[in-house]
Amino acid sequence: MDVEKLRKDFLILNKTVEGKVPIYFDSACQTLRPNQVTNAVREYYDSFPSCAGRSVHRLATEVSLRCDQARTAVADFFNAEAPTEIAFTKNSTEALNTVIFGSGLKKGDEIVTTDYEHNSVHVPVLQLMNLGIKRKVVPSAVDGSFDLEAFEKAMTKKTRLVAMCMTSNVTGYTLPAREVVQIAHSYGAKVLFDAAQTAPSQKLDVQALGVDYLAASGHKMCGPSGVGLFYSRSEISDRIAPLMYGGHGVADVNYASFKLLPAPERFETGLQNYSGIVGMEAAVDYLKAIGLDEIKSHEIALNKRMTKALLDVPGISILKPSDPNLRGGIFSFNIQGLSPHDVAMILDNSKNVMMRSGMHCCHTYFHSRGIEGCARASLYLYNTKEEVDIFTKAVEELSTRFDKSVELRGREH
Ligand SMILES: Cc1ncc(COP(=O)(O)O)c(C=O)c1O
Repeated sequence: MDVEKLRKDFLILNKTVEGKVPIYFDSACQTLRPNQVTNAVREYYDSFPSCAGRSVHRLATEVSLRCDQARTAVADFFNAEAPTEIAFTKNSTEALNTVIFGSGLKKGDEIVTTDYEHNSVHVPVLQLMNLGIKRKVVPSAVDGSFDLEAFEKAMTKKTRLVAMCMTSNVTGYTLPAREVVQIAHSYGAKVLFDAAQTAPSQKLDVQALGVDYLAASGHKMCGPSGVGLFYSRSEISDRIAPLMYGGHGVADVNYASFKLLPAPERFETGLQNYSGIVGMEAAVDYLKAIGLDEIKSHEIALNKRMTKALLDVPGISILKPSDPNLRGGIFSFNIQGLSPHDVAMILDNSKNVMMRSGMHCCHTYFHSRGIEGCARASLYLYNTKEEVDIFTKAVEELSTRFDKSVELRGREH
């Protein structure tokens, strides 16, 4: 992977902000977008700025074709059996809410989750609990990994849905997905994976996984802002009720009733983010051309370098698992004596490092572990060893300045 060559595709990495090129370590929130994607977005506005699936004029036909093409490209990216198994949403949150609320769960049914869910799974599940649906949380193992035994214990014949974060946005850990699906299916439950952090840098094959539903965010995989998607297996996709009703999505309506269109159109209600959808084709083409395995190896190589430099620095604690091979591109940490927001602001001001701090929409992870938050450096295909070295040197200096106890050497959460 030629990182220097790839960096040329990202305008922001070839510009200076107050005299310095940004060190962008916030890709788990949103990745940067290459010119190929922004050009595709612009092409929509410049060449066919119309509405898909409604009018019959030529511009509308062009946008309909381009959206179909994008759906096919995304379906291929995830190895879905058919393009109609992919529905576009505005983000992963909408995708996850659609499946969780749309699966027709009833009082007495059970849902099983991990203990590190993003709020976009955790909060809709809390809402369902108000309707009498029971939720079971699988506790992580002491080393931060997924506990398959505990998972199996949580499963019962009443479990209808296993809704789980496939790759944690806090730690970068990816659960054993195939095993989770096999166990869930042996109890007759469906599986929804929140793959928002998996899709950007791991090859996902929904057919090989056997997963029933999978959600992802375009803006975390070089796609435009405001596009998400979900996969739902053909045989069951029409059993999911949409989140919204109205323009489009319906086959026929009269004063007493309406008939929904089949998936994915039933889910794509109202005027859609066409430029974003068109941009998604360019995004998945871009990632495929680089290779998901290459992206993953690159992230891990950088994360190993970062971990090696900071693991034994007094006052720095790294969120588990400690092995960078298990954390993809995510390095979450705290510096004793400093709040995560202070760390992020100081590194932004002093070194132009852009990263996230706080609870990362994952409050339960932090509350249950008694941690107040963390700073998170998230790495992606355009980051370099040199950037990692600037970051680790700055973090080390900061921790030395604020370290209160040298005995905390190598402490882990
Ligand atoms: C694991 C995970 N799930 C869900 C989401 C929500 O994604 P979106 O902002 O696209 O709704 C995020 C966003 O950070 C995430 O990291």
